[in-house]
Amino acid sequence: MSNPCKDGIVLIGFMGAGKSTVAVELGHSCHLPVLDLDREIEHFSGRSIPEIFADSGEEAFRRSETEVLRRLLDQAPLILATGGGVIGRSENWPLLRQLGRVVYLRVSWETLLVRIGAGEGRPLAGDRECLQALFEQRLPLYEKADLVIDGEGGSPVSVARDILRTLYWEKA
Ligand code: S3P
Repeated sequence: MSNPCKDGIVLIGFMGAGKSTVAVELGHSCHLPVLDLDREIEHFSGRSIPEIFADSGEEAFRRSETEVLRRLLDQAPLILATGGGVIGRSENWPLLRQLGRVVYLRVSWETLLVRIGAGEGRPLAGDRECLQALFEQRLPLYEKADLVIDGEGGSPVSVARDILRTLYWEKA
């Protein structure tokens, strides 16, 4: 019987897609480390994400994302929740794919807006128009994932179950 967790699972998707909560659920079924890329960046830099953006700017944050992805390679395979913009740098893709199967949690703009709310703790979520433009610009990049899963309707438990079921049948 094939193990759907075997290669690790990397969750990508826009802010508010539910990557972190679904990663925790996946961790209950997969006996793999569960990590959150933003938390790892905070850990390595000793600063919060808003502090990094405010003090050093977005470009520095993007460099940290790539650097921390590289550092995580020796822990692969793992369950990894990423930040919504990790798909923007082409050099991140081979790293993401070495860490696990890349799964896009697809959620509609309308639902994301509700979930993001006032955007607290998310430096790029302040301006609604810019945020929507970012969402539209990123959509084709998210679609490059190995697997696209509907993250809209179900609970985190059922989304995690869908991911595992799809990976299981893919490998059977
Ligand atoms: C970002 C998303 C955030 C975080 C940072 C930038 C983005 O993570 O990495 O604020 O560019 O979409 P979440 O997707 O977990 O909110």
